[in-house]
Amino acid sequence: MITRKIAILGSTGSLGSQTLSVVEALNRAGHNLSVVALAAGKNLELLAAQAQRFQPALIVIEQTRDLNRLGRLLRPYWSGEILAGGEGLHAAVTHPQTELVVHALVGATGLIPTLEALQAHKTLALANKESLVIGGHLVKGKGSPIIPLDSEHSALYQLLQQREPTEVARVILTASGGPFRTRALDSFSQITVEEALQHPTWKMGKRITIDSATLVNKAFEVIEAHWLFDLPYEKLDVLLHPQSVVHGLVELCDGSVLAHLSRPDMRLPIQYALAYPERVASLVEIERLDLVKQKLEFAPVGRERYPAFWTVIEAGRRGGTLPAVANAADEILAQRFLNREISFSRIAEGLEIVLGEHQPVQNPSLQEIWEADRWARERAGKLSPYGVR
Ligand SMILES: NC(=O)c1ccc[n+]([C@@H]2O[C@H](COP(=O)([O-])OP(=O)(O)OC[C@H]3O[C@@H](n4cnc5c(N)ncnc54)[C@H](OP(=O)(O)O)[C@@H]3O)[C@@H](O)[C@H]2O)c1
Repeated sequence: MITRKIAILGSTGSLGSQTLSVVEALNRAGHNLSVVALAAGKNLELLAAQAQRFQPALIVIEQTRDLNRLGRLLRPYWSGEILAGGEGLHAAVTHPQTELVVHALVGATGLIPTLEALQAHKTLALANKESLVIGGHLVKGKGSPIIPLDSEHSALYQLLQQREPTEVARVILTASGGPFRTRALDSFSQITVEEALQHPTWKMGKRITIDSATLVNKAFEVIEAHWLFDLPYEKLDVLLHPQSVVHGLVELCDGSVLAHLSRPDMRLPIQYALAYPERVASLVEIERLDLVKQKLEFAPVGRERYPAFWTVIEAGRRGGTLPAVANAADEILAQRFLNREISFSRIAEGLEIVLGEHQPVQNPSLQEIWEADRWARERAGKLSPYGVR
């Protein structure tokens, strides 16, 4: 039987909600997982409903001004501690009862709780890729175990167990290619927000869905893999794989290729991380693969179709503050696209312009990361919808 005491950051989001459903399913199967803390942003109603159901000792919201309203929503059912902002996230990850932190916040704010969880020697199940993209050098070597939650990294984590670095020739992450994998290139200027939000295989939050259409998400995942597995960029590759069934491949020095396959369902990597190092029977609702019917196709990532991917990969290779700039600029540009202020193609153009103007700082401190982040947000916010500025 698995016993875990968990803090969930981002519990109201796509990944956080799925984590709670896996906790319930594992408990139904006789395991004993309890929720110590729940942290979320603005969705007070859902957070209150989750608190009623899971009875955590601590609840955290983003804004102090929401404390009273959340308190009113919770009072009939629950009487624990409610905190807000960074102080609350710190309390959740360092709570004496917390053994495992599931970190599913979205965005750069996730870096501090990542560092705090590791400093407090908690096991970290990490979905917040921004932590590694902007501050991988600060996270690396912190000692505590990190179990990746992203499906591709979970696959690679499983494939790379007990492998010597010299055995690994190449690691391949797969990408579905998003909704525009086969769309005519000359119609990219007409892409609508609704079309970009239609991911072919995964159901996720809005930012990551847009990032999956531009493939910026995959470039961030390459940077994430670089830090998680201590692999040079030369050994990291991406292939388009529209079925999203093979999540990761490891090519060994003798030419053998190991693959991880499963249905595209985030509850599997979540369950793997919650149960690690044990492996438990899969949840009944997750369909098994039918290998006889399953088609498996692979293709390279085209430069013309996915320019933003290549721009962000280059930022990762050059390192320093450039990945932080890429992350912040992309967040603003993706939001401006969602607000219908700029076109889909402008996200890639904007990234190239903002990254090209940035003077990178190598091995940046936290302060230098936040300064680069602030500068990139401001610059991307001011980028005109057309032209070179
Ligand atoms: N979704 C997936 O399938 C998936 C797969 C792999 C990796 N990831 C990664 O996992 C992370 C989460 O993705 P998601 O799709 O679950 O995002 P999402 O649906 O947008 O959820 C984000 C969560 O973070 C909370 N939040 C945002 N800012 C906050 C703040 N300042 N303080 C406290 N809470 C805050 C949100 O709260 P409110 O909603 O209450 O405002 C929500 O609970 C991202 O880094 C993403 O790249 C996601």
